[in-house]
Amino acid sequence: MPIRMETGIAACGQVGYHRGNIFKNLRRMRFLMTSQDAVAEIGLIGLGTMGGNLALNIAEHGFQIAVFNRTTEKTDQFMVKAGELADKLVPTKTLEAFVASLKTPRAVILMVSAGDAVDAQIDALRSLLDPQDLIIDAGNANYHDTNRRAAEAAEKGPRFMGIGVSGGEEGARFGPSIMGGGAKDVWGQVGHILEAISAKYEGEPCAAWLGEAGAGHLVKTVHNGIEYADMQMIAEVYGVMRDGFAMSAEEIGKVFEKWNGGILQSYLIEISGKVAGMADPDSGKPMLDIILDRAGQKGTGRWTAIEGLMLGTPASAIEAAVAVRNMSSRLDERKAGEAEFGPAPRKMDREAASVDALEAALVAGKIVCYAQGFGLILEAAKQYGWAMPLPEIARIWRNGCIIRSAMLNDMSSALADNAERNLMLAPFFSAKLKETEASLRQVVAQAALNGLPVPALSAALSYFDIMRTARSTANMLQGQRDFFGAHGFERTDKDGGGFHGPWAMG
Ligand code: 6PG
Repeated sequence: MPIRMETGIAACGQVGYHRGNIFKNLRRMRFLMTSQDAVAEIGLIGLGTMGGNLALNIAEHGFQIAVFNRTTEKTDQFMVKAGELADKLVPTKTLEAFVASLKTPRAVILMVSAGDAVDAQIDALRSLLDPQDLIIDAGNANYHDTNRRAAEAAEKGPRFMGIGVSGGEEGARFGPSIMGGGAKDVWGQVGHILEAISAKYEGEPCAAWLGEAGAGHLVKTVHNGIEYADMQMIAEVYGVMRDGFAMSAEEIGKVFEKWNGGILQSYLIEISGKVAGMADPDSGKPMLDIILDRAGQKGTGRWTAIEGLMLGTPASAIEAAVAVRNMSSRLDERKAGEAEFGPAPRKMDREAASVDALEAALVAGKIVCYAQGFGLILEAAKQYGWAMPLPEIARIWRNGCIIRSAMLNDMSSALADNAERNLMLAPFFSAKLKETEASLRQVVAQAALNGLPVPALSAALSYFDIMRTARSTANMLQGQRDFFGAHGFERTDKDGGGFHGPWAMG
């Protein structure tokens, strides 16, 4: 049982405390301030749901962990919740006590809100930590912030890592997927703890170092972008079943449940089945029928779309998913639109696109969406000179994270075979696309004819069609650019660039 640092400090602070006791506690404090008191192998700041669960996960794996929260009440509540794990926890009431309770070189996980709070916490810690100590930002940070913080850390210390943690509350508590970023030797300091607490896939930890500076947070951002697209495509086929096929929520739930036993096996399909099958205890109606159709977002999907545009790599299925979330929030505008134009027919001939075709369309859409996500990571790796081992990324997404799925195992193998190749061209996935492409086309076409919006599936189909078109229509764009701006073009029949058209003659 560790000696709790804050016990002495708090006692000394009590008004009217007996003088003798104060001296006794000061003596105790002095004792506590010696290196013997630095009992914790790691520390965590920020005991919100995710932070608290991560701390309990670390404690459960046998690591002594110091915890600190800005409001002490939260720490007290957390200690009550910790139950038997309290022995592995060192609750602290001041940042100084927190730091003093850590073994050197110290490692501190931050689980505070992304943004300014992270910078404020780093500033507060900087004066208390040594240069060789380590701060780990485990929140959903924008990787550009992580790049900046890594550069600042290199200049001013202490050392810094940004890690992406996925899996929601349950994952944090019982095994998340952990995407590590920062200097590789720094991963060596805490990697054993992160691997121990991570989810396992056939015994292998779903935690790894992926690259320098903001690499871990970039991978987590793309994970979330894929999460948005995956969720949106599921919502689109749900819409076809609900409106096009007039199926009940319960029936739809059973379809998802069946699909979860096949190639689409994944956490998101599994929970979609559960969401569809659940009844509201108050009204007795299906939950889906009483949930308002206005989706929230914290911004990571949007960051992925922005990053795709900035890096010049297509992420159109993800962009579509973000756009739909934005449109979903315009509830009044959508109501006005329906009043003005009338509802779309929204009926679909089951002969033209069956439930089986929806499953196949989802398979094709998913392959395209991951091809875009991995393509984005590959481009970032090239532009930043980061390691970013794609097979390793697919490997640590196989369990623990929100997008975990059976297909990620095949993706890991395909990327190990050739990480530079578009995932759609890997033999396993090109064969799957050849099997499912017709269904994707059928579903998108029928949905369009009947006014059922399927923007992410449509984006996936367009991407597929563009990527299989050796002669695109960008020759027209080049002609237009040259016409109005003399931007020049390349010719198909001559080498070099900077050719101009005879526009003045026209
Ligand atoms: C995860 C999740 C997690 C969070 C999403 C939700 O990997 O554990 O992605 O990070 O649930 O950020 O994002 P939105 O609120 O933007 O949907």
